[in-house]
Amino acid sequence: MNYILEKAKNTHDLNKDEIIRLLKDDSISESLFETADYVREKTLGNSVHLRGLIEFTNICKRNCMYCGLRRDNENLKRYRLSEDEIVELAKKAVAYGYKTIVIQGGEDDYFTKDRMVSIIKRIKSFDVALTLSLGEKTFEEYKAFKEAGADRYLIRIETTDKKLYNDMDPEMSFENRLDCIKNLGILNYEVGTGILVGLPNQTLESIADDILYFKKINADMIGIGPFIPNEDTPLKDAHGGNFTLSLKVMAITRLLLPDINIPATTAMESLSPNGRTKALQCGANVVMPNVTEGEYRRLYALYPGKICVDDTPLKCRGCITSKITRINRVVSDTKGFRGQR
Ligand code: 5AD
Ligand code: SF4
Ligand code: FES
Repeated sequence: MNYILEKAKNTHDLNKDEIIRLLKDDSISESLFETADYVREKTLGNSVHLRGLIEFTNICKRNCMYCGLRRDNENLKRYRLSEDEIVELAKKAVAYGYKTIVIQGGEDDYFTKDRMVSIIKRIKSFDVALTLSLGEKTFEEYKAFKEAGADRYLIRIETTDKKLYNDMDPEMSFENRLDCIKNLGILNYEVGTGILVGLPNQTLESIADDILYFKKINADMIGIGPFIPNEDTPLKDAHGGNFTLSLKVMAITRLLLPDINIPATTAMESLSPNGRTKALQCGANVVMPNVTEGEYRRLYALYPGKICVDDTPLKCRGCITSKITRINRVVSDTKGFRGQR
């Protein structure tokens, strides 16, 4: 085997040059995937953790260049679920066997600290783990959510290349995003971050830095997704991310952080049929099926071609279970904290 892979498998440590060499060399992709799959199996066994994803508002005050929910997109009908609707979806998800609920939305100021605290407390009464994905908030807000019972928080850094970050959103501050991620760690959340692969002008060198950043902050979860150009955004004519490169970034992340949670992302399957199954065989151990109902799925339009927009929570639950069992893996019955099987 390639000595870089051998080293990663044994030490879970690589330098920037070694990561770049793995990213550049497509002749090693298959051995990289096999090594990541081996490390995942050895560390975490065959369990796959399911997280029921509620997309509770597509209203966003931000204007990220790549995202269909950006505030300047006027071609999108906006929605916001009520507190009762959100809690009801969570309750049904628990009835379908989900042990973790993820509530994700745009940065929608209607959902104040007090409103979120109330939602968090009600969902936590169902004895589930709760992950929030609400974007950049103050330390005080993150603290209040944690005290109300939230367990985990997802906020991708998107890229650690400061120039690229600013090009992707001239109004946002890279430093503030780093601070948010730091604050979540200080508050003892399980912290999930990650990147988009294939942003315009993103280099393999910068992706190597991203992977080293995951290792440096010792992230608990890492979500990697290909960037998929959206017609209703300024990046509509961009090339978009490559599926194999996204898988490689994910696999290298598994080699460096053997016990963390890594989802097979929805964007991977949107770009490539059976993309999540392939990702589960290249280092991933988590899937986040949608438990939102009705037209809201379609309206949560981050990128085109998003899977499951016409499906129901029940359909997705069955579908994902069969995908998992077909590759001889099992749906975990734990809450799936870092390192748990
Ligand atoms: N393609 C792929 N992923 C996207 N996201 C936003 N827009 C796109 C797109 N066009 C991702 C971002 C964000 C997550 C919620 O969705 O990485 O963190
Ligand atoms: Fe809003 Fe998040 Fe989309 Fe940026 S990526 S526009 S913060 S929903
Ligand atoms: Fe939704 Fe397969 S996960 S239909």
